[in-house]
Amino acid sequence: MKRSVITGVGSYLPDKKLTNFDLEKMVETSDSWIVERTGIRERRIAAPDETTGTLATYAARAALADAGLTGSDIDLIILATTTPDETVPATATKVQQAIGMKTGFAFDIQAACSGFMYALSVADGYIRTGQVRRALVIGADTLSRIVDWTDRNTCVLFGDGAGAVVLEGKSDTESGLMSFILRSDGDYRDILKADGGVSTTQTIGHLLMNGREVFRQAVERMSGIALDLLKQNALTIADIDWLVPHQANIRIIETTAQKLNLPMDKVILTLAEQGNTSGASVAMALCAGVKNGKIRRGDLLLLESMGAGLTWSAGLIRY
Ligand code: UT7
Repeated sequence: MKRSVITGVGSYLPDKKLTNFDLEKMVETSDSWIVERTGIRERRIAAPDETTGTLATYAARAALADAGLTGSDIDLIILATTTPDETVPATATKVQQAIGMKTGFAFDIQAACSGFMYALSVADGYIRTGQVRRALVIGADTLSRIVDWTDRNTCVLFGDGAGAVVLEGKSDTESGLMSFILRSDGDYRDILKADGGVSTTQTIGHLLMNGREVFRQAVERMSGIALDLLKQNALTIADIDWLVPHQANIRIIETTAQKLNLPMDKVILTLAEQGNTSGASVAMALCAGVKNGKIRRGDLLLLESMGAGLTWSAGLIRY
C-alpha cells in the first residue's frame, strides 16, 4: 500500500493586519487582556475583494510550486472551510478552476477548526487505496466574515488565512501520514456555533461561543486524543519532534503540552501573529514550521485540533 507523503507546503495571509490596539478602538478590550488571556497580538483580515476561494488558491499555488508541480498533476482537491464563497458549489471547484486542474475531483469538508485534519485523513484514504496519485489538501477560512465585530468575547480571537499541502502516493518510504484519530460529539454543538444558516434562517449568522467551556473541552479532548494516538502507535511523547497544534489560545496549547509532558520549545506557534484562523490554522502552522527550518525531513510530527461540533483530532506524520 502507498504512503501519502507531503511533497509541498504553502500558505497565504492577507495583507491587512488588525492589531490588538486597533481592537481597543472597536470594543471594550485591551492589548494586555488579549495577550495575557490568548497570546494573540495581531491577526490578518481578508481584503473586500478576497474570499476564502482566493486565499485558498494562493496557498494552493504556493504548495504546488514548492512540490514542483502544476494543477494538471493533481487528481484531488479537498478544501476544509467553514466560510465557503457560495452556499453552492463547493469552493474547492474554484481552486480547481484557478489552478487549471482538468481531471479528477474536488470537494469541500466542513469540520470547523478540525477541517484540515479531517481533510488530510480523507485524502490519505484515497491515496493509500490507489484511487488518487496526488492530492491538494487545503485549509482556508475568512472567519472575519462571520464574526460579530461588536462582541469582545469572540472578535479578538479570529483571523483569516489559508494553508495547503501536496500529498503524493509513494511506495518504499518511511515518510508520510501514519495514523489519524478523528472524533466529534454533537452533544456540544451549542457551545460554539453560528446563530444562522442556509436551512434555518437563510442568513450566515454570527459566531457565538461559551469560551470557558470550549477552553475546558479543548484541553481535555486534545490531550486525551493525542495520548490515545501515541498508545495506538506504540510511541511515547519522547518520540515526537514537533507538536503542530490548532492555534486558538496559548493557554490551551501550553496546558495541553503540559498534560502531554512536552516542552514548549517543541511546539510550532503562529498564534501571536495570525490569531485563530480556524480550518487554516494547523495547515499554516505546519507550513510555517517547514519554512522557518524547524521541521526537517524525517521528523515525527504530532498534529492536533479542536473545533465547533465539537470536532477534535490528532495525527502522526513522519515528515
Ligand atoms: O478554535 C476553537 C474555538 N475557540 C477556542 O478554543 C477558544 C476557547 N476559549 C478561550 O480561548 C477563552 O475562554 C477566552 C479567550 C475566549 C476567554 O478567556 P477566559 O480566561 O476564559 O475569560 P472568561 O470567559 O472567563 O472571561 C473573563 C472576563 C469576563 O468578565 P467578567 O464576567 O469576569 O466580568 C469577560 O467578560 O473577561 C471578560 N472578557 C474580556 N475582557 C476584555 C471577555 N472577552 C474580553 C475581551 N477584553 N476581549
